[in-house]
Amino acid sequence: RKDLLGLRNLTAEEIKLVLDTAVPMKEIIGRKIKKTPTLRGRSVITLFYENSTRTRSSFDLAAKYLSADTVGLTASSSSVSKGESLRDTGLTLNSMGVDVVVMRHPASGAAEYLAGCIPASVVNAGDGTHEHPTQGLLDMFTIREKKGNFAGLKVAIVGDILHSRVARSNIWGLTKMGAEVRVVGPTTLMPPEIQQMGAKVYHKLDEALEGVDVVNVLRIQLERQQQGLFPSLREYSRLFGVTQKHLGLLAKDALILHPGPMNRGVEISPEVAYGNHSVITEQVTNGVAIRMAVLYLLTGGEANALSN
Ligand code: CP
Repeated sequence: RKDLLGLRNLTAEEIKLVLDTAVPMKEIIGRKIKKTPTLRGRSVITLFYENSTRTRSSFDLAAKYLSADTVGLTASSSSVSKGESLRDTGLTLNSMGVDVVVMRHPASGAAEYLAGCIPASVVNAGDGTHEHPTQGLLDMFTIREKKGNFAGLKVAIVGDILHSRVARSNIWGLTKMGAEVRVVGPTTLMPPEIQQMGAKVYHKLDEALEGVDVVNVLRIQLERQQQGLFPSLREYSRLFGVTQKHLGLLAKDALILHPGPMNRGVEISPEVAYGNHSVITEQVTNGVAIRMAVLYLLTGGEANALSN
């Protein structure tokens, strides 16, 4: 493939290839000296039209650990602020000989549009409410590392499903690998197409969490609410906030995930976010490994070459 735009169109084999490739990448991150010459002579540009802490810095570090040359651009620091179009921005970067453009954009479908404009590889680092494929992959990597495989696993995704590209990438990826995915949240934050995506829909948190192996807690995306938040933040927190009292409903050794950034005390209590079940900090480490694997594979690497 030239691009990584989403998990919806990847096969189970392709998802497995990325996860398998990330295993030796994680060993590189664990070393004292992390740099390998694998992508020497390659260039990666991160082009972010929305804010980011985790995704942008982990792509940057992933590229640097593999010895690629990197440049970071944000909308405010580039000629986008002077009105340059996405197509012209992409063509300009492409003319500089870039190999991979990693882009985050507020519009769903923007990554696919850019991929159609330039021969360089495009990685979708989050496009509107559409997909965030590397987040889905790092969530899956974290789950597989702890649980072994996906078949028969019960995963609950909690919260603002409507605005969540993370939820969509998780649903496409996890269902493809054989997991049962439940989504739970208020009716006002549930997308109409959710039934067709293969997830089971719940509106009561306790029912959704009964016996699940993994809980992926989402952030309420206040910046994307069109008509104000309904229910209110206080009601939301009371009805859908994951707290210590919910842990007893889960399967033994259940995992708590959160893609970050967290609204602690709203969708997740501090005790749960930093408790024994939480793998939130491991998700961040795994994000670097997954992004190394994605950059490596898109620039022509083969998974088995890494273990030699
Ligand atoms: N999970 C995630 O995409 O975080 P950032 O917005 O900080 O990149």
